This record gives sequence, C-alpha cells and structure tokens, in this order.
Amino acid sequence: MENNEKEIRLQKFLANSGVASRRKSEELILEGRVKVNGKVVTELGTKVNPEDEVICDGKKVELNKEGYIYILLNKPIGYVTSSHDQFGRDDILDLVKVKERVVSVGRLDMYTSGAIILTNDGDFVYKVTHPKHEIVKTYQVTVKGKVTDEDIDSLKNGVIIDDNYLTKEADARIMKIDEEKNISRIEIKIHEGRNRQVRKMCEAIGKKVIALHRSKIGSVGVKDLPIGKWRYLKEYEVKNILEGK
Ligand code: URA
Repeated sequence: MENNEKEIRLQKFLANSGVASRRKSEELILEGRVKVNGKVVTELGTKVNPEDEVICDGKKVELNKEGYIYILLNKPIGYVTSSHDQFGRDDILDLVKVKERVVSVGRLDMYTSGAIILTNDGDFVYKVTHPKHEIVKTYQVTVKGKVTDEDIDSLKNGVIIDDNYLTKEADARIMKIDEEKNISRIEIKIHEGRNRQVRKMCEAIGKKVIALHRSKIGSVGVKDLPIGKWRYLKEYEVKNILEGK
C-alpha cells in the first residue's frame, strides 16, 4: 500500500473490479470482509495500488487493465447511444455518471432497450465491434402477428436486408404466441451488428417489431440489472467478451 500515483481508494478498486457498487463495497470493507496483502482493512480511506493483493470474502479481486473501466448498462427505451446528440435527445451518458470519458461499444437504437457496454478502452471497442469478432448478441423481440416455424427457419438461415445483404446464420426460437393479442415473442441470437439488423430481419419475414430488448452480449446479461441501472463488468467478463464468449 505504498504511496504512488496509481493508487486508488479500496472501495473504488472493488467497484471497478465489478465486485459490487461503490456503496456496497464500502459496506464490505466496514464489515471486515476485505483483506489487503493479508490484513483485514476496515478503513474506508485506505488506498491500494494495482500490485496489492486484495481479497474479498476469501476470493482474490482482479483489477481490470490499468486505468480502464468497463460498464454494463441496461438501457431504457428513449435514450440514444451516441454522445452529445445533435438533437438534444436523452443520452445514455446521462445515466452513467463517471469521471472517465467512456463511449459505447456499438449501438442500440433509441427504441431498443437492454445490454450496452461503455468503456474508455479504445482497443476493447475496436476488437469487440470488429466484424471478425463474432460475439453473439441475444435479443428478445415482440412482433405483431403469429410467427411460424417457417419464419424461424428463415431467420436462422438468413434473410435479405439492406437490398442485397444476406444475414449470416442466426439462432431463433419462438418464446410465446399470444393469439388473443395477436403478438409473438421470439428470441434471436446474431453474430453480427448491422444497423437496425434485428428490426430489418423481422421486416424481411413480414413482421413488425413492437418491442426490442437486448438481453445479453456474449454470456453477460442484464436480467439482474434494473432498467436504467449500470454496474462495472468483472475482470473475467471482460476477458470472456474479448474471447467472443
Ligand atoms: N437490431 C436492431 O434492430 N436494433 C438494435 O438496437 C440492435 C439490433
């Protein structure tokens, strides 16, 4: 715990590593559940540096790549993912107040909710959004009308969007058909990310999208994250995403 410019407060170390929110991390410290270099630390102001060994509840806490943060937001509908929107619309950065200059990794349409990652690691953005990087993204889609098995086969095998682009193999399944309301809910998993791709794929099978939610990026989901809330990704989640998992 020597003094140098890389040192940060213990609660920030825990939060940035995705252990818990900053406030919950403070509680963990006060409850004596955190050790630094073998000693229990209950002092909130304690500073640590990346070389220190931090253990919480018996498990080693891995810090993400130095100075970089990775945030998972459950985006509400009505927010845009581009920063400083020219039309002054609500921006996801209004929901994620951190001092680091983060950008979104890819985009979600204004009327799509769900998982979006923000980071200040440009290398991560490049790798994860590169077309070669085929991380699977899972969407829950509500469409008007009754989706058939043939529709699902088309979505899986590829449909034509953007005039002449054949979408790559995807996974799709029917989750629910509500005959009374005349709507269907499907899950689609795609490995690519063309502009408005899921909406266009549904249009291609003649179905209008009523609601679209991205539930997962790779294996990282937003099921336990209330809409509009965010958390830091854990080090292993960042690694998994970089490995396309
Ligand atoms: N596909 C869409 O149509 N919209 C999104 O926001 C993401 C994927």
